[in-house]
Amino acid sequence: MSNSDKRIVLVTGATGGLGTAMCKKLYDDGYIVVANYRSEEKAIEWKNKLHEEGYDIAIYYADVADYDSCGAMISKIAEEIGHVDVLVNNAGITKDGAFRKMSYENWKAVISTNLDSVFNCTRHVINHMIENNFGRIINISSVNGQRGQFGQANYSAAKAGMHGFTKTLAMEVASKGVTVNTISPGYIGTDMVMAVKEEIRNQIIAQIPLGRLGGTEEVAYLVSFLASEHANFITGANLSINGGQHVY
Ligand code: CAA
Repeated sequence: MSNSDKRIVLVTGATGGLGTAMCKKLYDDGYIVVANYRSEEKAIEWKNKLHEEGYDIAIYYADVADYDSCGAMISKIAEEIGHVDVLVNNAGITKDGAFRKMSYENWKAVISTNLDSVFNCTRHVINHMIENNFGRIINISSVNGQRGQFGQANYSAAKAGMHGFTKTLAMEVASKGVTVNTISPGYIGTDMVMAVKEEIRNQIIAQIPLGRLGGTEEVAYLVSFLASEHANFITGANLSINGGQHVY
């Protein structure tokens, strides 16, 4: 396949554990993969490491919490590479703490990075997808947006909000060949999950019927499927991948 026939996928927050696995899988699938980052030093190291492993992935800066920053990134990608066909809204942070002690700053930071970001990036790619009669928006939410989690009022609110967005946008663009879906991973073996105190993490793992954390590549396979044309009839869905931790 020549480069001009390849679809372009943008993964936000690409340098994290889940983002890295997604980039690799989508690259292996034959996409032109574009990685968004916030920390330049980490991103350059990441790009070089992936290059050594055989992955040629362009990196673009944007603070996904900032609408104009996302607009500037997406314009630059369009000029230098092309229009985004598949957007994976993956960037996210945690600032956990019991609500009675949660600061406004920790509320706002999580809502801006995890939820406003979905508007900020999607708004800049959706019209091209509609014109092109093909597009994929894949929002990476969390089991904790589906069920809540002690210490995550900010995170759970943002993650639940993502799926509300998915449902409405899916309806609005279904007739234009654009699908919009949410993936809700459970506890995956990422730095974010490993930052939870060991004792608490072990209590959480004990609640997972499969008895282990998920693998980043297991989530990447689901992203790959949703991005493909095999998933043309799936839209507005919230797909759980949580080892049975939350069934409903
Ligand atoms: N359930 C019920 N009560 C709890 C509790 C829990 N899970 N955790 C703490 N408490 C209680 C304590 O027993 C204590 O009660 P008393 O006041 O009656 O003594 C009180 O709450 C302690 O409150 P603190 O604010 O002092 O709690 P803490 O500082 O010890 O811990 C916390 C708070 C850091 C949020 C901790 O609960 C925690 O780490 N929770 C896990 C959060 C989590 O799962 N984060 C996921 C990060 S990864 C991710 O988000 C990816 C993804 O999508 C899954």
